[in-house]
Amino acid sequence: REAKLDLVTKHIKPFPDFPSKGILFRDICPILKDPGALTAVIDLFEEHVRQTHPQVELIVGLDARGFLFGPLLAQRLGVGFVLVRKKGKLPGPTVSVAYKLEYGEAEVEVQEDAVAPGEKVLLIDDLLATGGTLCAACELMKKQNAEVMGCMVIIELKELNGVEKLKPNTLFSLVQY
Ligand code: PRP
Repeated sequence: REAKLDLVTKHIKPFPDFPSKGILFRDICPILKDPGALTAVIDLFEEHVRQTHPQVELIVGLDARGFLFGPLLAQRLGVGFVLVRKKGKLPGPTVSVAYKLEYGEAEVEVQEDAVAPGEKVLLIDDLLATGGTLCAACELMKKQNAEVMGCMVIIELKELNGVEKLKPNTLFSLVQY
């Protein structure tokens, strides 16, 4: 486990002042470029889910980088994958939840029939910052009467305290800064 975490950490590249001055962007692209690091990420998530949430029925990924890891994990677990998208991207009847950004508002959306009432779901994204996005996605799942078992991210930015927006003890992160 330590070796896998090490490999993942080595493939997260920091970019100072991106997308704006003062922001240190943590880029997961090098993970995707390295088959070993990508396997390590999915191994670590799989191990967590099998130990902690073996009853999971669906993996729900967040737009856009949750889509890179979620389907791989879902396939490993033998469960389905559902997309939570930014508003306006999904066809057919949808349900949405709006949330506040630092400046302005954003909205996440899911297809109405994507999640069944009572379905046990786990959410996945690449990174937790303020927690606004994952929190809104959890709300969306609750609106659909799904049972949110937890949230998973590769990277947790501790100083922004996003974890406080989520239900206590429901966040699993691989790497913390
Ligand atoms: C980033 C990241 C998370 C979200 C986390 O995505 O991939 O989805 O921000 O931020 P929060 O915890 O403060 O809500 P971004 O909004 O940059 O969208 P993208 O994935 O489409 O690039």
